[in-house]
Amino acid sequence: MVANVLSIKDLHVSVGDKEILKGVTITVKSGEIHALMGPNGTGKSTLAHTVVGSLRYKVKSGELLINDINLKDLQVYERARAGLFVAFQEPVSVQGLRFINYLRTAYSSLHPDEKLEYKKFIEEVKELLNYFGLDNSFIDRGLNEGLSGGEKKRMEALQMLILKPKFIILDEIDSGLDIDALRVVSKAIAKAKENGAGIIIITHYQRILDYIKPDFVHVLINGRIAESGNGELAKLIEERGYEYYRGGEVDAKVE
Ligand SMILES: Nc1ncnc2c1ncn2[C@@H]1O[C@H](COP(=O)(O)OP(=O)(O)OP(=O)(O)O)[C@@H](O)[C@H]1O
Ligand SMILES: [Mg+2]
Repeated sequence: MVANVLSIKDLHVSVGDKEILKGVTITVKSGEIHALMGPNGTGKSTLAHTVVGSLRYKVKSGELLINDINLKDLQVYERARAGLFVAFQEPVSVQGLRFINYLRTAYSSLHPDEKLEYKKFIEEVKELLNYFGLDNSFIDRGLNEGLSGGEKKRMEALQMLILKPKFIILDEIDSGLDIDALRVVSKAIAKAKENGAGIIIITHYQRILDYIKPDFVHVLINGRIAESGNGELAKLIEERGYEYYRGGEVDAKVE
């Protein structure tokens, strides 16, 4: 397995004149799963948007690298090409853009040296649709157009498997999933890890972490990592709530 590293180092990010991330450091290596947890409005989605390069999120200082490639210098599509895939908390829908066309373009831009065999690609997509409990009609639908909440999340998980990125950020992929879908999506994440991807799962719930054991858990409070630990930390959070962190961050780090 090629060891790749996603380095988020002392990242300060603002939206407008409001500083939202106040020095976030997370290092993700190939094959690792990191869970990012924290209360509402604390900056988790901001981190996902910043890493992918959404325009409204201004990096004031800090580093953002995949290996030695500086993501801050790159456009959204170039970051994807560098090996990044982000599934947003609220996936955008694009009217009139057929899912399969989007996926094919995304794949080719991610793997420019591979010649895509379209027939084989379609077969693979159909197999995965079946795996995620979706029928073949989803191939021709507009990107996320009219999809239910849970269908969107499953389609994101499908993209994650097809596109084979080096690093994956999943922002609340588990929200709105029924029990069966949660199990299938969890398996898909485990498969992506096996394939060597480094993964950040943003979640509010211990439930998904019962299926996929994270190697590291980070608690984001008010734009800062208040505590990092192993999988056990997620259980502790469930027990003690975020109230525990009130009045100051507990600056702990576990390697
Ligand atoms: N585009 C934006 N414009 C204005 N404010 C924003 C924008 N994006 C984020 N914020 C603000 O930044 C803060 C962090 O938001 P963010 O979406 O990152 O939180 P979160 O940790 O993902 O919360 P949740 O658990 O509710 O999804 C919030 O106060 C939010 O209102
Ligand atoms: Mg969020």
